[in-house]
Amino acid sequence: MKKILIIGATSAIAEATARLWAQQGAQLYLLGRNAEQLKAISADLKIRGASETQYALLDANDLASHASILETAATALNGFDIVLIAHGTLGDQRACEKDFNLALQELNTNAISVISLLTHLGNRFETQKFGSIAVISSVAGDRGRQSNYVYGTAKGAVSIFLQGLRNRLQPSGVQVLTIKPGFVDTPMTASFKKGPLWASPEAIGLSILKAIDKRRDVVYTPWFWWGIMAIIKAVPEKIFKKLKL
Ligand SMILES: NC(=O)c1ccc[n+]([C@@H]2O[C@H](COP(=O)([O-])OP(=O)(O)OC[C@H]3O[C@@H](n4cnc5c(N)ncnc54)[C@H](OP(=O)(O)O)[C@@H]3O)[C@@H](O)[C@H]2O)c1
Repeated sequence: MKKILIIGATSAIAEATARLWAQQGAQLYLLGRNAEQLKAISADLKIRGASETQYALLDANDLASHASILETAATALNGFDIVLIAHGTLGDQRACEKDFNLALQELNTNAISVISLLTHLGNRFETQKFGSIAVISSVAGDRGRQSNYVYGTAKGAVSIFLQGLRNRLQPSGVQVLTIKPGFVDTPMTASFKKGPLWASPEAIGLSILKAIDKRRDVVYTPWFWWGIMAIIKAVPEKIFKKLKL
């Protein structure tokens, strides 16, 4: 039975992914900052087939708590086969432009907290020499755009960090998966107008499971975002800087 830790387990994408793992009878340990929601999700996952569910509180920005919370989770599950890091915030770009403290908060939640968690987990997985570390980054990290470059900076930092960690853990046989979703219909994007490029959390969850099973390095999800981002990345900066994106 797979032993899986989910960080940011109250996220819509994380919950949809956890439901798929529950159907496989996985042992799940959920971390998040909303006790009521964690309790409800935990009970639901048990009904859906999880062989065991446990949860605990984690505010990802409380960096000092990471080591002990991860240790408690590892002891409870007797080690991890898979860790999914899913927490994140999509801050107000305009507000971040006016107030660096808001930008710093976004960078802390979306990049620094993830890098802290990955530092602890990277060492653990390097020692155990098996398993998968999967992290939700974003297509927004592939190129800076005026509409969301603070969030994009954080996700870009996470993607680069994961690239280095993957390179380091390759000899240990540990998979490091960078997940790059496009637009996903979740509470994070509730205020956005939806269109044909939008995907459901369930579709993203399915692609996360497939990418872990196939031991992929990077997954764009849905798949067509690979093509969209290839084009976006190829536009020369001289032209790109004039676009309203
Ligand atoms: N939706 C999209 O279009 C999209 C696209 C690309 C990437 N992503 C990424 O996908 C991941 C999941 O997001 P989602 O779309 O599923 O949105 P979501 O449902 O709003 O989930 C975001 C989660 O992050 C948690 N969180 C935020 N700050 C936290 C903190 N300091 N400590 C612990 N948990 C914290 C939130 O917990 P609370 O409920 O307690 O606030 C919430 O459960 C994020 O990393 C996001 O950046 C999303």
